[in-house]
Amino acid sequence: MATITIAYAGRNGMTRECAERLAKELNGIDVTVCNLADGFPDLAKTDVLLAGSAVRHGRLLPEAKRFFDEVARTGGDLPVGVFLCCGYADRFMEYRDRLIPRDLRERAFLTSNFGGTLNPAGKPFWDRMWLFFARSGIVESEIEDGEYTPVLPGMIPENIGQMASFARRQLAGKRIAEMNNNAQ
Ligand SMILES: Cc1cc2nc3c(=O)[nH]c(=O)nc-3n(C[C@H](O)[C@H](O)[C@H](O)COP(=O)(O)O)c2cc1C
Repeated sequence: MATITIAYAGRNGMTRECAERLAKELNGIDVTVCNLADGFPDLAKTDVLLAGSAVRHGRLLPEAKRFFDEVARTGGDLPVGVFLCCGYADRFMEYRDRLIPRDLRERAFLTSNFGGTLNPAGKPFWDRMWLFFARSGIVESEIEDGEYTPVLPGMIPENIGQMASFARRQLAGKRIAEMNNNAQ
């Protein structure tokens, strides 16, 4: 039985990298990492679910949207943490409130921004174009602020670490509740 399932949707590798880093932070625990494009995990077979998606064109990836809706509908009392990977960190709260179904958002023990990249290198052609223009926009706005500090987005390891420790706490709480039930 998978104790913690990490289910993610991404296109160019960053969300997968975040999911893999999260799995590493959960060392010592039985963790399954699952790409939602390959199918949905069996929610009955996990104790804690960590689910995430990249944001593209202001939306979740379609498989993540379907999965989030399914978890909101059928997840029962399964503890859930939700993460997004987005290039515009300042839009995270808007994405969180608009894209994560309300039931899921309110039930989640944590909703977090794992960061994202606007680096066009190595991406498919149209993605490269999009990222190129998105990135120049960010650099320009920072020049307008009077100082040239081209701070580009990237992964946010501290948020991934925080998700891992919250997930450990959820798992420990579940184990203690089970032990209490068995002792009665
Ligand atoms: C075509 C395209 C559209 C994107 N749209 C958005 C967006 O609307 N908002 C945002 O914050 N980031 C956007 N991004 C940035 C991605 O969220 C970021 O690159 C993320 O790391 C992608 O994860 P992935 O590598 O797993 O696909 C977009 C990236 C691409 C390539």
